Amino acid sequence: MAVEKRTLGNTGIAVSSLGLGTVKFGRNQEVKYPDSFTLPSDEAIEALLELAHELGINLIDTAPAYGSSEQRLGRLLKNRDQWVLCTKVGEEFTTGKSYFDFGAEHTRRSVERSLRDMKTDVLDIVLIHSDGEDIKILEKTDCLPTLMKMRDEGLIKAIGMSSKTVEGGLRAVELLDVVMATYNPSYTEERAVIEAAHDAGVGLLIKKALNSGHDALNGAARTAENLRTVLALPGVSSAIIGTINPEHLRANVEAIR
Ligand SMILES: NC(=O)c1ccc[n+]([C@@H]2O[C@H](COP(=O)([O-])OP(=O)(O)OC[C@H]3O[C@@H](n4cnc5c(N)ncnc54)[C@H](OP(=O)(O)O)[C@@H]3O)[C@@H](O)[C@H]2O)c1
Repeated sequence: MAVEKRTLGNTGIAVSSLGLGTVKFGRNQEVKYPDSFTLPSDEAIEALLELAHELGINLIDTAPAYGSSEQRLGRLLKNRDQWVLCTKVGEEFTTGKSYFDFGAEHTRRSVERSLRDMKTDVLDIVLIHSDGEDIKILEKTDCLPTLMKMRDEGLIKAIGMSSKTVEGGLRAVELLDVVMATYNPSYTEERAVIEAAHDAGVGLLIKKALNSGHDALNGAARTAENLRTVLALPGVSSAIIGTINPEHLRANVEAIR
């Protein structure tokens, strides 16, 4: 049986309740996973994307800050129309270090580069990739007005924020179409953001449901419990789980059936 689809708040976009996170497609430096890893081959990514599609997963999360992830998706993803592409803006990762730019010019250039790199005319979701100063980015930079303009121009369908604070997540709920919040049994602080998004009909994506893999070290039962807990929270459209292991992808789908 395929993974169920859920509507992403009021956006009208149908997303699979498990999304595929693609940090590990393109970046293996300065990441917080339990083990180091080598980047997967093109063949391995193609096979993983095919498996994801077979399992009913249609949501892919990427970002310019995930190294070569966007470019690799642009080259290797088949049948663009079958997928919901979520990318980000604001964080850049070059020469092994992150920097942030939420100015109008950078925002527009970044979105245009994502469109080009992923070989598409429209991005389904663009999230502001927060540096931790959620409120300041939303209220004092030109990032959001620029994204709204690009949404009006038809280049983006929905705008959101991958937020890092409760206050910022709550403000994002007031201003945006989608919020990506963190939630797992060892980190429940953003519960208020989840509840506010649900009440407001704002699309809600969850990141780090497995605590960036650290909770998965406690075994398959714990992994399954984390996934089921997150997906049972009212208002959650999808849990974005990062994996480059086909067996883990299958197990995660099995866990929520
Ligand atoms: N991390 C961030 O700061 C951040 C920020 C914003 C957005 N995001 C988005 O959210 C996604 C998820 O966050 P995340 O990747 O940090 O954390 P996560 O999804 O909680 O954990 C991913 C880790 O769990 C492992 N894993 C997945 N399924 C498993 C299973 N069944 N058994 C054992 N291990 C398993 C993966 O390793 P294998 O590859 O070996 O399966 C990977 O190392 C990201 O990919 C990204 O798209 C992340």
